[in-house]
Amino acid sequence: MVKCIKFQNSFVYNMSKTFSILIPTYNERDNILPLLERIHSALIGQEYEVLFVDDNSGDGTADLINSLASRYPARVIVRKDKRGLATAVTDGFGWVESNIILVMDADLQHPPEIIPALIAAINAGNDIAIASRYVKGGSAAGWSRIRQIISSGAILLAHILLPHSRKVKDIMSGFFVFKRHVIEGATLKPIGYKILLEMLVVGKADKVTEVPFIFQLREKGQSKLSINLEIEYLRHLLSLMWRSGEITRFLKFIVVGLIGTFVNLGTLWLLHDTQALNLLAIGPALLIAIEVSIITNFILNNYFTFADRRKKGAGIFFSNFVRYNFFSLPGGALNWITTIVLTNKSNASYIILNLVGIAIAMIWNYLANSLWTWKK
Ligand code: GDD
Ligand code: MN
Repeated sequence: MVKCIKFQNSFVYNMSKTFSILIPTYNERDNILPLLERIHSALIGQEYEVLFVDDNSGDGTADLINSLASRYPARVIVRKDKRGLATAVTDGFGWVESNIILVMDADLQHPPEIIPALIAAINAGNDIAIASRYVKGGSAAGWSRIRQIISSGAILLAHILLPHSRKVKDIMSGFFVFKRHVIEGATLKPIGYKILLEMLVVGKADKVTEVPFIFQLREKGQSKLSINLEIEYLRHLLSLMWRSGEITRFLKFIVVGLIGTFVNLGTLWLLHDTQALNLLAIGPALLIAIEVSIITNFILNNYFTFADRRKKGAGIFFSNFVRYNFFSLPGGALNWITTIVLTNKSNASYIILNLVGIAIAMIWNYLANSLWTWKK
């Protein structure tokens, strides 16, 4: 155990600690002693500090931690004004002493016995190591099928909308360790409590790994996180899409789509409608118009919408072009059918149907190409 001396209400350690464990608490009195005991047993011979960030719990959590501070390298900072898990953690980043920071819950749902494996992953060169329920060997004890499905759906949504999150399976984990440089210069504004997701999207982490663990059942106290979680999660995803530039990317894609529509109509007009150049029948003219707009859209998306993800080389360019054509098939077919039908029956409901079709095709094109053609 690290020896420490008390100094103006905080601790000055006689050795520099190799890592800090940051634990947010709210009414966790009954869990503190077993938690510190198990952390201590798991980390014998290692230098570390434990910082609790407590939001003025009414059950005496902070007093208990203070009374244990002579037995364990633990201290508590009580926030009187603010309340909330997310800011307890982000505030704590500024208060811990080490540059390797481990975040975990106090309620023993995160078994401290996993900590050495997480630290080892950091020492092996990773920027973030995550205790994960969704890699082989990991799971969530006592979770119903429904809860698992909701959780998988929420993760899938983030993977689709936020490319930065794709390398991680358990983006919801509240049990992880990272090197401080990951968040240096980043503005962390988590809505709700998905701090890890926030760090993955706005932080700088090249190497990320997941260590399996079994998320335990809570035995003492109650979960505090239940109200409006889904709504908050969606708001957080939107905010991250905005801050990481993914919304701008989608808007660029729409602009390119509009340009493509004009190219399509213009080509069709040139080849089929003009008196002078009435070269082709509607069928073949439309086919050419669709392909011409696919080509211009591909080029614009390659050098504009997805410029940051473009890989150089003629081979990649060509294979991406083939891929882009493949993903354009449904939209192209729809364009074909509605145009042919619309030339005969030009009534309002067909036009609305056509517009709905275009919107669906646009979203499909965006997702497919963002996931596979210009994948992150
Ligand atoms: N300081 C502070 N302020 N701490 C809080 C607050 C708060 O407002 N609310 C909760 N905590 C602390 C709890 O005391 C506990 O140590 C930890 O944050 C997690 O809270 P729980 O209430 O136990 O959350 P959970 O079990 O529902 O959620 C956990 O699992 C999720 C994955 O299913 C958390 O680890 C989440 O981060 C994780 O996403
Ligand atoms: Mn919990």
